[in-house]
Amino acid sequence: MNYLIKDITNLVTCKDYTGKPKIGKEQSEIGLIKDGNIFIENEKISFAGNKNKLKDFLKTKKIKYEVIDGRNKTVMPGFVDSHTHLVFAGSRSDEYEMRIKGSTYEEIANAGGGIASTVNAVRNASKNELSALAEKRLGNFLKYGTTTLEAKSGYGLDVKNEIKILEVINNLNEKNKYGLNILPTFLGAHSIPKEMNKKDYIELICFEMIPLVAKKKLAKFIDVFCEVNYFDAKETESILSLGSRFGLIPRIHTDQFNSIGGIDVAIKVNAISVDHLEVLKSKDIKKLSEKNIIATLLPGTSYFLNIPYQPARELIENNVPVALATDFNPGSCNTENLQMIMSLASLKMKMSAEEIISAVTINSAHSLFMQKYIGSIEEEKYADLLIFDFPSYKDLLYHFAVNQLQFVFKKGNKIDINLI
Ligand code: NIG
Ligand code: FE
Repeated sequence: MNYLIKDITNLVTCKDYTGKPKIGKEQSEIGLIKDGNIFIENEKISFAGNKNKLKDFLKTKKIKYEVIDGRNKTVMPGFVDSHTHLVFAGSRSDEYEMRIKGSTYEEIANAGGGIASTVNAVRNASKNELSALAEKRLGNFLKYGTTTLEAKSGYGLDVKNEIKILEVINNLNEKNKYGLNILPTFLGAHSIPKEMNKKDYIELICFEMIPLVAKKKLAKFIDVFCEVNYFDAKETESILSLGSRFGLIPRIHTDQFNSIGGIDVAIKVNAISVDHLEVLKSKDIKKLSEKNIIATLLPGTSYFLNIPYQPARELIENNVPVALATDFNPGSCNTENLQMIMSLASLKMKMSAEEIISAVTINSAHSLFMQKYIGSIEEEKYADLLIFDFPSYKDLLYHFAVNQLQFVFKKGNKIDINLI
């Protein structure tokens, strides 16, 4: 099918004019075209621009297309959620209630809950069960505008179950009901399984899991939870650098509760992204400046766990590219709704609307090495885009907690949000 979306009041292109993640003031440049137009041919965008250019373009087109009225609408690139734990089983609603009554995330984890309780549920679930649960969640992601997401393993913590999760992710990629793209990350080093000591588990990760994941081509990225009681900086470095030698691109969970050297490791192993950063120190922000390592901020976790928000302003002022993601998972952030995360970034971290939009589109696309295909509305990119029922992109933050998304295009396929 071909489409012309015409006279779009606010066409937010997020044009990738540097070819790099946006830093500093660039992060506010969203390539806005007033009364813009988009032509979609099959799965790709073949035109994005103003009325005058459209006239010339249409002269060359002898194909049939459907016209969509863009008046009073805002169109943006499909959102890219670059940090999720999509595949899991079970519920931790009991832990949520314990936290409301005053227990902390760490206390619950130390008492045998937390990640360990999800690991139990995942080990007892079949691939079909995990896949059905994940596919249902993909509908929730899409409903709020996410068209591409990253998904981590990390709730198996043994060879069989880590591979099981990664196979579920790989089997769902593009073949799910909605055609969403899912980029897989191996997070074997998410925690230490209760049946093993840490030293033996790290050996298992390094000598069995990483080679197998690489051989089976099950992951594009490798991640480690660098934190007190999980993996220290030295262990994180050895796991990530080995992964890197096997062709897996490093990313890190770091500085969530404690700052224990994860940023130095990220720089050493040339990580594409450092994620969380609730307790990030100014000296580490300076180290990240101009390095093009993306800071992936997860304010949903701060909200859900009642812990500090990330220093977004200081990061942007120091030329660190910022992305935003949900961290969707059953323990620390149980939402697929990236619009909620955008609202938190605005109110709690004082990011501007423009910075936020870059953070969930082009910068997160860069963090997944998908910038060639997605993250902006440009010719030759996939037609992954969102039609919102408001005239200004600023209304997305101003009129909060109401989903004003009407249609999603995923690779040129038009989806009515009300039918998801
Ligand atoms: O990103 N911080 C570590 N991992 C997840 C939480 C996992 C869980 O509690 O199940 C996170 O917040
Ligand atoms: Fe996470």
